Amino acid sequence: MTDHQLRLGVNIDHVATVRNARGGAYPDPVRAAKLAEEAGADGITAHLREDRRHITDTDIDALMEALTVPLNFEMAATDEMQKIALRRKPHAVCIVPEKREERTTEGGLEVAREENRLAHFIAPLREAGCRVSIFIAADRKQIEAAHRIGAEVIELHTGAYCDYHAEGRFAERDRELEALRDMSAYAHSLGLEVHAGHGLTYETVQPVAAFPEVHELNIGHFLIGEAIFRGLTPAVQEMRRLMDAARS
Ligand code: PXP
Repeated sequence: MTDHQLRLGVNIDHVATVRNARGGAYPDPVRAAKLAEEAGADGITAHLREDRRHITDTDIDALMEALTVPLNFEMAATDEMQKIALRRKPHAVCIVPEKREERTTEGGLEVAREENRLAHFIAPLREAGCRVSIFIAADRKQIEAAHRIGAEVIELHTGAYCDYHAEGRFAERDRELEALRDMSAYAHSLGLEVHAGHGLTYETVQPVAAFPEVHELNIGHFLIGEAIFRGLTPAVQEMRRLMDAARS
């Protein structure tokens, strides 16, 4: 089952970062989300951080009200966030690390060490009908743990691959890409739906988009930055075009 169209989730957190730099209401992340939706995004991703540094609780309510595409709600595995997710019941919940001790060295969530706690944490979310995704490194041990705790989706962390590319460390980049490819196939073989994201740009998106097992890419920071130069609609359209070209 790898003939699906690759989905694009646009992360609008950094529209809120710019808004919050001044306080007030501009620029509005909901307006950005609607534009992204019209430009070809299949979903909108927003991360409600514990310190509310960009997206706020009110933004989440407004997004859920305004969107016609699914909302992917990124959150840490805390009681507060679980309550918020259970109250709002977004289409999807992606569990991400926020604190250093929750992270593996590659940057994903340390699932293997916290299997029991995370299994209990995600069970009510799944019962409430949210699709639960776990943001992890391309690491067999973490994939197997995510599978055991009952996650339906994993999102592979592409940050290291993108950083190596930006730094011109191409041998390391290619090794990381190989791990992402192998682990996409492995996770898919376990029955997990595979997503990927973090740090992707026009330069780095295509090799990842070409993996047949990858179902969705979540992309934010680069697109919001690019929107300064070409506008959000063309920025999203170009990403969509590159993804589709890589897939075909
Ligand atoms: N996927 C996950 C799980 C993330 O936490 C983030 C960053 O919030 C992204 C994708 C998007 O990363 P970027 O903003 O670097 O494109």
